[in-house]
Amino acid sequence: MADTIQHTHSRPARYDIVIVGAGFSGIFLLYHLRKLGYSCRVYEAGDDIGGTWQQHIYPGVRVDSENWVYQLSISEIWEDWSWSELYPSGQELRRYFAHVEKKLHIKKEVEFQTRVVKAQFLREKSRWRIETQDGRVTESQFFLTCVGTSAKRYTPDFPGVEHFKGAIHHSSRWPREGVNVRGKKVAVIGTGSTGVQLIQEWAREADTLTVFQRTPNLALPMRQLQLPPEQDFMKTVYPHVFRDRERTFAGTGFEPVPKGTWEVSPEEREALYEANWKKGGFHLLIGSYFDSFLDQKANRLLYDFWARKTRPRIHDPKKRDLLVPKEPPHPFGAKRGSLEENYFEVFNQPNVHLVNLREDHIVEFKSHGIVTSSGAFHELDAVAFATGYDAVTGSLINLGLRNTEGKSLEEEWKDSAKTYLGLTISGYPNMFVMYGVHGPTALSNGPASIEMQGRMIIDVIQRMHANQLSSIEATPEAADAWTKRVEEISNATLFPQADSWYVGANIPGKKRQMLNFCGGLPAYEEACAQALSNWEGFRTFQRPHLS
Ligand SMILES: Cc1cc2nc3c(=O)[nH]c(=O)nc-3n(C[C@H](O)[C@H](O)[C@H](O)COP(=O)(O)OP(=O)(O)OC[C@H]3O[C@@H](n4cnc5c(N)ncnc54)[C@H](O)[C@@H]3O)c2cc1C
Ligand SMILES: *[C@@H]1O[C@H](CO)[C@@H](O)[C@H](O)[C@H]1NC(C)=O
Repeated sequence: MADTIQHTHSRPARYDIVIVGAGFSGIFLLYHLRKLGYSCRVYEAGDDIGGTWQQHIYPGVRVDSENWVYQLSISEIWEDWSWSELYPSGQELRRYFAHVEKKLHIKKEVEFQTRVVKAQFLREKSRWRIETQDGRVTESQFFLTCVGTSAKRYTPDFPGVEHFKGAIHHSSRWPREGVNVRGKKVAVIGTGSTGVQLIQEWAREADTLTVFQRTPNLALPMRQLQLPPEQDFMKTVYPHVFRDRERTFAGTGFEPVPKGTWEVSPEEREALYEANWKKGGFHLLIGSYFDSFLDQKANRLLYDFWARKTRPRIHDPKKRDLLVPKEPPHPFGAKRGSLEENYFEVFNQPNVHLVNLREDHIVEFKSHGIVTSSGAFHELDAVAFATGYDAVTGSLINLGLRNTEGKSLEEEWKDSAKTYLGLTISGYPNMFVMYGVHGPTALSNGPASIEMQGRMIIDVIQRMHANQLSSIEATPEAADAWTKRVEEISNATLFPQADSWYVGANIPGKKRQMLNFCGGLPAYEEACAQALSNWEGFRTFQRPHLS
């Protein structure tokens, strides 16, 4: 952290609102708040807008949400934008954000390559004090964190990594010039969503590809569609799409069937599974019976259906049992599954090898490969770490936040992350969190929950202004109650049963805790709207006279 003093002689810059992060969240807030007349500044560590989609340029990077719901509702953007695929690639999303810039001129208020490293609310001034890595200090009334879930990458510290002579790349820090794997022996460590995407690409080009798998990815068929350039019809329905997506549980625009798995005949059940399977994407998981994520046996039926469809795609019986085990490794959908195009066929290629890390773990890296516990040596020229993130909490903790008493968030959250409404944190007045801990976040289609939270935050700021409130702050009791509620809802589902990043289980030593609100978007909005309408759970402070 650069504690330089080069700027301390100058007075801190001042804005009404400082936003950190220029992805969907930051752009949405900036666009609206600027229009309402607030002075805004956005600090962004990267060098362009788009957040996740600027940061991630690994081969195969693609969104698993259908394009019509995975975009901003702002009409200036969509009225003359057409998507080329149902599930757009990272390249297309970067073109989308270039279009966003052309229409909205977001960059006027953004400072790039500017990382926030410290922030604290000063009670005596009733203002935020924000420090960036270049040593500058900024003050603002509001501090809006739009840092996403994946700003802190995770790399397991395998012994001997430093001796490896080949190339090693984490998926979130891919070289701009790409990685040439033609004729090379390569490996992918990790089979989460990113691993699946990378594996499909590298299998095509590499001499050999070795996949190190800890948990099989219960991936669903994407059924990608190429779309015609003429999309006028979509534009007539978009306003409805944007309204309706928020009325659905996961913000995807489609809902589970309002019936229990056991209320219908086996034939009816099979017919629904089959219809959802044909639709592709997450329809099988999210569009089946409402108890699919609540009832272990119902969930198992769904898993067995998926396994029956998927097992025949893999020729080798050993690989088949590793990729699609007869017994589910965890409840279906309780870890983030991926959408795949030819993932399972990839393992039929003679140049693709699969190592089961549960039986044959990585012992160490050597200069030209990896040794596993069975004694095998895997010769390698390049390794991709698709090992994910210290997700959801890591991005926020990375901001160097301190509460009004000077205690760091990292310290405070060691035993348990606590928020109020997934929007605020006790001890952090006038700070609002987008797409973060205890919001619908990773269990939602991003832009849907982002816009819902964004509107609520904007409304709060407007009402504070109208009521001459200088600050509001969640009480510790309200935060305890919300955190407990999030856990209760989670406990009623199958999510806690999987060792997933949803519950922090991917990071050694991280407290296991549900980090997302599992009750769905409509219930989330209702809970927030009710509390916010009369400042329930908040201490409010009147603005002093004058000033
Ligand atoms: C590989 C990948 C695939 C995904 N696929 C899907 C999907 O299929 N469907 C879906 O709904 N969601 C998906 N997501 C989640 C996706 O991140 C969200 O949908 C959405 O992009 C979140 O937008 P955001 O603006 O909240 O955060 P982000 O897009 O993550 O943007 C956060 C920004 O904050 C900046 N930042 C962070 N810390 C600092 C700091 N200290 N100082 C300054 N700047 C900082 C970062 O540089 C980044 O630009 C995926 C995420 C990843 C990583
Ligand atoms: C959730 O379940 C865990 C594990 O069974 C339990 O320890 C915890 O008290 C439960 N939380 C709530 C709020 O019910």
